[in-house]
Amino acid sequence: MNQDFLNNLIAHKGLEESILSLSENISEKIVFSTSFSIEDQAITHAILSQNIQNIEVFTLDTGRFFAETYQVWDRTAKKYDYHIKPYYPNNQSIEEYVQTKGINAFYESVDLRKECCFIRKVEPLKRALKGAKLWITGIRAEHSTNRSQTDFVEWDEANQLYKYNPLLHWSTQDVQDYIKKYTIPYNVLQDKGFVSIGCQPCTRAIQEGEDLRAGRWWWEDSSKKECGLHR
Ligand code: ADX
Ligand code: SF4
Repeated sequence: MNQDFLNNLIAHKGLEESILSLSENISEKIVFSTSFSIEDQAITHAILSQNIQNIEVFTLDTGRFFAETYQVWDRTAKKYDYHIKPYYPNNQSIEEYVQTKGINAFYESVDLRKECCFIRKVEPLKRALKGAKLWITGIRAEHSTNRSQTDFVEWDEANQLYKYNPLLHWSTQDVQDYIKKYTIPYNVLQDKGFVSIGCQPCTRAIQEGEDLRAGRWWWEDSSKKECGLHR
């Protein structure tokens, strides 16, 4: 597998066709990570409505999701009759972190916040990606400058696999239209000003005109707003 091969498989194809094409032409392990955002729900629909069996849909359950996020998870699992694979933080690491640093220590410093993200997301991600050669994500360019420099297919050096970002150039409106067209379950917080939704203590609604990721780790300097899952 290489970048040209992958680019050829997805060339001139819409979301569903490109995912089907990858699933039919790649024998190695393909995974898709969902945080149950509207973007991820669109991709989940593209995979599960076509009954694609060889793409594993997984989530990194940090234990700190919104109740509304667990509701979308449940509704999605029922609608598509699919068991989304959950990955949990290493129990010893999280027990030690919470006991020694505190249950909400992420507000105290960027280092403590990143340590929490590492334990709850980054380390479980390593396990989720084990053996996979292609990782599908719901990243969109509009979400940050870093991300706008990304390609549809990119080599992920840190994880030693290819990443495919099918919605890279979709607008928020494109995603909303797709969700509506296929009556896909989505997080009700989306209708209450929440745009980019992560863990409950680290996400808040944004105001009209604010940056799409302004509600994530809002107390931190904007240059630090990544949790380590992506570049
Ligand atoms: S983050 O790096 O800031 O947390 P963001 O919320 O923008 O990421 O989501 C971008 C993509 O990362 C999602 O489309 C999804 O593929 C993946 N992702 C983010 N959080 C999770 C999670 N908790 N579980 C699984 N995948 C996730
Ligand atoms: Fe911890 Fe917040 Fe990162 Fe979630 S987003 S893992 S609660 S620091």
